[in-house]
Order: sequence, then C-alpha cells, then structure tokens
Amino acid sequence: MSAKPDESRARSIVDLLAGRAVVLVGIMGAGKSAIGRRLAERLNLPFVDADTEIEAAANMTIPEMFEIHGEAYFRDGERRVITRLLSDGPQVLSTGGGAFMNDETRSRIKADSLSIWLYADFDILMERVRRKANRPLLKSPDPEAVMRALLEERNPVYAQADISVESRDGPHDVVVDAVVSSLHAHLLAAAGNSLHRPQGAADTASAPEPTGK
Ligand code: S3P
Repeated sequence: MSAKPDESRARSIVDLLAGRAVVLVGIMGAGKSAIGRRLAERLNLPFVDADTEIEAAANMTIPEMFEIHGEAYFRDGERRVITRLLSDGPQVLSTGGGAFMNDETRSRIKADSLSIWLYADFDILMERVRRKANRPLLKSPDPEAVMRALLEERNPVYAQADISVESRDGPHDVVVDAVVSSLHAHLLAAAGNSLHRPQGAADTASAPEPTGK
C-alpha cells in the first residue's frame, strides 16, 4: 500500500532537513511547546523543550533560577543547553522566548537548523500567558506593558527566522498544518535553488545581472 499524502510529505520534509533540527522561536504564549510537540508527532521526530532541559540541567525551575541566581545565570544555562541540544541531530526543538535574542544562540540556530517564528495577536498572547504564573519576566504590576516592550524589541529579531507562521487561536492542528505546509514549501524551494544555482553564485533569488556585456 502506498503512503498517505501526509506521511509522504512528512518523510520528504525529514529527508530535506538532512539531519538538521527544526527550531521554534517566538514570544511567550506563541504556542512553541504545544505546536512543537504536535509537529514532532507529525514528522516522527523526537520533541525537545529547551526550557525543560535547562530546568533538568540546573535541577531547579526557571522561576527559582531567576529568583536565586538572577536572569544572567538562566541566560547562560539557556545558551549552553541549546548549543548541546542542537548537536543532537533531527528533532523538533522549542526554545524559550529569549533564546533567539542571544547572538551566539541565534547564529547556531541559523547554521544548524531550520527555524520557525510562531507569532500571534497581542490579545491572544496575553490570554495564553495569563493561564500560567510561571514566567518571571511577566511578574510585574503591568504585564501588558512588559509584553509590548518585549514584542517591540524582539519581533525584528524573531523575523530573522527562516519561516514565519501565525499561531492563531483554535485547534492546534490547524497551526500545525500551516507549519508543515510552509516548512515543506521552504525546503523544496531551497533544494530547487541549490540545484539550479551555478557554483559560487550568491544565495539570493535576485542577484544583480552582470554588467559590461
Ligand atoms: C522567557 C520565556 C520563557 C522562559 C523564561 C524567559 C523569555 O519561555 O524561557 O521565562 O525571555 O521570553 P516561554 O517562551 O516558553 O514562555
């Protein structure tokens, strides 16, 4: 029996990833873990949550880390743990909202993986983050102002991810479908570009025409 279209597309994505990880980036409440877990199931890849791994390595929760050692300690652990995880090969890796802001982490993610920015409407983000009180950055008298400031600072950086997908409210599977489609299209286009590009040509679709004919 031949494979179902979903299965053959998942296999094609994993082949085109050629051993790289898929890394989800985006602000708190974007749904990186919920979508990441389901995406991993679809692709038959392991799912890894960077924040869970950081907590295991430090043997304490993220709120404890912030409270006892401060944010810098957490950021250092975050950078080291993500570097280690990226060397583990094919997987779906969800990262905490600040991870992609670190220059070294971002360079590694760009070099070793396919990155996906999950973004969402402000009101949806706030509604989601209000459900859990485990985010030290939002323990503020005005979490909305903190969220707005973080979005302003971070969105231009998240936008450097390879793919952007809106994390709408509603069934997770709808967002996962959108991620799978974008991921497949991106990987196919990249494979097509590298097949057709003469050796040494720039990696851009609109390289200027040679002059002086
Ligand atoms: C943070 C986001 C959190 C967690 C930590 C810091 C951030 O992860 O890593 O509280 O800087 O945005 P989520 O994005 O999974 O909530």
